[in-house]
Parts: sequence; structure tokens; C-alpha cells
Amino acid sequence: MNLRQALTMGRELLKLHNSPSYALDAQILLSKVTGLDRTALLLKEDMILTEEQQRQYKSLLERRAWGEPVAYLTGTKEFMGLEFLVTPAVLIPRPDTELMVETALTFLQTEGEHPLAVDVGTGSGAIAISLAHYVPGLQVYAIDLSAAALEIAQKNATLHRVDQRVKFLQGNLLQPISPDLQGQVSAITANLPYIPSGEIAGLMPDVKDYEPHLALDGGCDGLDLYRLLIPQAYGLLKTGGLLLMEIGPGQGEGAQRLLPTAQWQTEVKLDLAGRERLVIAQKRRA
Ligand SMILES: C[S@@+](CC[C@H](N)C(=O)[O-])C[C@H]1O[C@@H](n2cnc3c(N)ncnc32)[C@H](O)[C@@H]1O
Repeated sequence: MNLRQALTMGRELLKLHNSPSYALDAQILLSKVTGLDRTALLLKEDMILTEEQQRQYKSLLERRAWGEPVAYLTGTKEFMGLEFLVTPAVLIPRPDTELMVETALTFLQTEGEHPLAVDVGTGSGAIAISLAHYVPGLQVYAIDLSAAALEIAQKNATLHRVDQRVKFLQGNLLQPISPDLQGQVSAITANLPYIPSGEIAGLMPDVKDYEPHLALDGGCDGLDLYRLLIPQAYGLLKTGGLLLMEIGPGQGEGAQRLLPTAQWQTEVKLDLAGRERLVIAQKRRA
């Protein structure tokens, strides 16, 4: 079988199984098996696959056809122009979350030489590591409940050479942060689980059957963790500091109601598809 035939076979199989991005998925999986990038696959379409490559490719196609996310099959996902290791212990970073990172970056770049940030619910570390990568003097504390997620996040920090500036802590919300840092932090990023519990069963199979439920379930209205986080964040931020919370469509008003107007100035930003995606809350002077 040559590369052209392999791509055709992969596309057809995944289309048959209703994979929404079947052509791209087939290319990515064939790239993984051959070590060739997607352009090279097209340029070398007559190249013959070895028996072993054919076996591996068919096995990956089968797993994808059953619904396993491509990023778990390849073990990596691109986010903010950087490549992150991912395993089923972590949520696959989403392009929608880049809005939060871009907003934080714009703010942190005006915050002096060595600003401090906290990323809560860090998962793969994608947010914390991107911030440290793009803001050279930044120090980040990155927290997660899951030890397995933190192991992956630590590897990603080492891979991107920011392990000296990103410190990983295991625990619940902002509890692991030392009380000495109260009032010292410029920005807190939080992409905590925000899917209402009742909606988990209706999610796409590649999300609900493969991604960690600890990363998805946000309780009855999806805002349970933000309800607990907001008062903790108020104490930790300096005056004028930002709390950024990712939300889902329709959660903007509910999330803003959790932020007392005497303490916070708030705004809801939309993603590229025009859906509510990010709450920006700036700590007011007391
Ligand atoms: C939606 S995922 C986001 C992962 C990553 N920040 C990203 O944007 O790709 C939420 C993460 O929050 C973590 N988490 C859930 N409850 C938590 C809690 N109470 N305290 C800290 N982390 C929590 C989960 O383990 C998961 O890694």
C-alpha cells in the first residue's frame, strides 16, 4: 500500500464512522506512523508503507473510528503555537481557550518586570506554560486536583523550558497557594470544569467517553467551582488584577452575578463563533 492508497482508505473508513474531520484525521494519523509531515505525505504519495507501518496505521484508524480523540492517539496537541503532550489524564487544550491566554498576555505585558500569575485547573499546563513562554519575566503557580494531570503538565513545562518559572501544586482551587501571596498576584486564569452535570451525558462521545470527567463536570448550573473560586481569588489578587474564567455559551450572566459589583468590574468576551466564552473580572480598589 502506498501513501495515496493509505490516505484514501483512512478517509473512507473514518467517513463511514461519521468522524467530522475524517480527511484531516487520516492525514494526522498517517503522519504519526510515517514521521512525515502532512505536506510530505502529499509530495511522496507513491512511497510504499512497511508492513509494520500499515499495521500501526490500521490500528490507529480503528481506534479513531471508535471515537478516541486524535490528540490522545498522537499524544500531542498544538495550543498557542506550542506543542503539548496529552494523555487521557488531561483535557485536550481547545482553540477557544486561546482567547483567555491572549487576554492575559496583553494584560501581563503591562505589569512590570516580574509579575505573578496563577493558573487554576491547569490540566496539561497549556495555559500556564503558554503564559510563561510569552512573558519572559513571569512566575506562574499552576494548580490541579489531579496528580496524574500534574505529571503531564510538569513534562510540558520541561519540554518548553519554563520549568524554573512554573511551579506546580496539587490541591483544591487556590488553597495550595501560600497566604504570603495575598494581594500580590496580577492575574488568575481559570478554565475549570463548567459543563452542567445534566449535560455531560449529551456530549459528543469523543469527549464524554474519553476525556476526564473531573475536567468537565461543573455541577448543577456548571458554575459550582467558580462560585467557590471568586472569593478566594479576590484575596489573592492585587488591586487592578484580573480574574479570567472560561465559560460556556449562555453562562455569562450567571457568572457575572457571582461577582459583587462593589468588588469587581466585569466584562464577558465572545469567541470567534460569537458565543460567550470568557469572563474578565478586574479587582476594584477596596
Ligand atoms: C476544563 S479542564 C482545563 C485544563 C486546562 N487548563 C486547559 O485549559 O486545557 C479543568 C481542570 O481542572 C481540574 N480541576 C477540577 N476540579 C478542580 C479543583 N477543585 N481544584 C483544582 N483543579 C480542579 C481538572 O482536574 C482539570 O485538569
